[in-house]
Amino acid sequence: MSDLIKEPASVLIFGASGDLTARKLMPALFQLSRDDFLPPKCPIIGVARRTKSDQQFRDEMREAVDEFSRTDHITDDEWKAFASRLYYVETDITEQQDYDDLKARVREIEQQADIEPNRVVYMATSPNLFLPAIENMASEGMIPGRDDENWLRVVFEKPFGTDLESAKDLTYQLSGKLSEDQIYRIDHYLGKETVQNILLFRCGNAIFEPLLNRNHVDHIQITMAEDQGMERGRGALYDSSGALRDVMQNHVLQLLCLIAMEPPALFRANDIRDEKLKVLQALRPATDNIDEWACRGQYGAGSHNGEPTLPFREEDRVDPDSNTETFVAMKVNVDNWRWAGVPFYLRTGKRLPQRVTEIAVQFKHPPLNLFTTVECEGDMCQMVEAQPNTLIFRIQPKESISLRVCTKRPGMQYQIHPVMMDFEYDESFDFDLPEAYERLLLDVLRGDSTLFTRSDELEAAWQFVTPVLKHWQKSGEAPPLYEGGTWGLAAAMDLMKNDGRAWRVPSPPR
Ligand code: BG6
Repeated sequence: MSDLIKEPASVLIFGASGDLTARKLMPALFQLSRDDFLPPKCPIIGVARRTKSDQQFRDEMREAVDEFSRTDHITDDEWKAFASRLYYVETDITEQQDYDDLKARVREIEQQADIEPNRVVYMATSPNLFLPAIENMASEGMIPGRDDENWLRVVFEKPFGTDLESAKDLTYQLSGKLSEDQIYRIDHYLGKETVQNILLFRCGNAIFEPLLNRNHVDHIQITMAEDQGMERGRGALYDSSGALRDVMQNHVLQLLCLIAMEPPALFRANDIRDEKLKVLQALRPATDNIDEWACRGQYGAGSHNGEPTLPFREEDRVDPDSNTETFVAMKVNVDNWRWAGVPFYLRTGKRLPQRVTEIAVQFKHPPLNLFTTVECEGDMCQMVEAQPNTLIFRIQPKESISLRVCTKRPGMQYQIHPVMMDFEYDESFDFDLPEAYERLLLDVLRGDSTLFTRSDELEAAWQFVTPVLKHWQKSGEAPPLYEGGTWGLAAAMDLMKNDGRAWRVPSPPR
């Protein structure tokens, strides 16, 4: 067993019949168990309303893990070893009286495993159940206090609030029952290997960090694009949230923090979170002229892999009159000494041409164009000159870091030619990248909150996006349509074009 986890604990999953449990949590826990990261005694207890036996739960989870695990072939022995950890307790999360049985059964399972009541509770439920669950646990004495020997860590899935007010309110209500160090607000992007590498790359190399500032950087682009639409019934949830709340407020702003923050003095949870918070606080507030720097869109009909695709409003479980945005682009400013005057262009959306997440740092042009040449092909002539260096963190897929540099094209003239210097994960490491949830679950079990969002960080992110949200809600207008499967929206193109810049077209995965 790996010695990363010091104390055995049990994992309770509230919402164990849901999609997240099947698609992400169980495959991640299975992988951790298979790779020997979990202590031998670490019961995993599914908690949900439906009636089922431990065996039924195990059978359902086998199907889920077979379908969604990154391990291609799971042997019966591997499965048996994992399945022996699994239990199921039928509980209506909103019913106080069910917690008596829940507590007794969990304790019984822990005693059989001969472990202390140290617990991770994963709230994989809809957000309206967060508070009732915690209140019911508190009334049943399931929340240890500061002086107790045993610990409890509660993981909250997003969305944590739907705007600044509701996020603050939830934090306030929970703070009466849980201390901040018992709360783990998950943003699964922070668990991605390539996202963690942003800080290591910046602070583990001496040559890049001195260049990441307003003296050398022209602008930064962050793209989180998805080609998918509302498959697997996601429409209902998404229609009530939209791209700004679903992705921009959390994943994209977290990426911005990691590329823009100051290196922390020490690599410790709170030092890192303090620096990220400062970036969020330095975002120029979204007060006036929102339409000049933020735009949204909704996908209309289009195509994906050559097949026609539905407009958002005709997707399963989406309101046919929905005004929910499925695309957002913004130009934001980080008003601090390092980044003053350097725009950050952010975009995210569904039904775009490809699934790709990347951060591109575009450096300034060389001060003199010494190598300008004119190249002609037939009667088409083109000026070729130095292209600015670009540092690209490809978060997914085909995880990599690349630097575009200019070189001399071999030949008798000085002709300039851009080339890429690439580091690709799968060429440098003979190692499957762990899934984000594996890393994050392991971190909760070992009590490391570095990759989780603190309440002040979360509120600062909501503080920034809420005026935009309100502005769009107030307008009551339908978002402009873009054709599904395209980079779309003219307004997003104009954000860049008006500044004499252009969005990168991310290279398709090779
Ligand atoms: C989730 C969003 O947080 O992230 C989804 O709610 C989105 O809408 C997903 O599809 C993307 O995650 P990943 O890891 O596939 O990039």
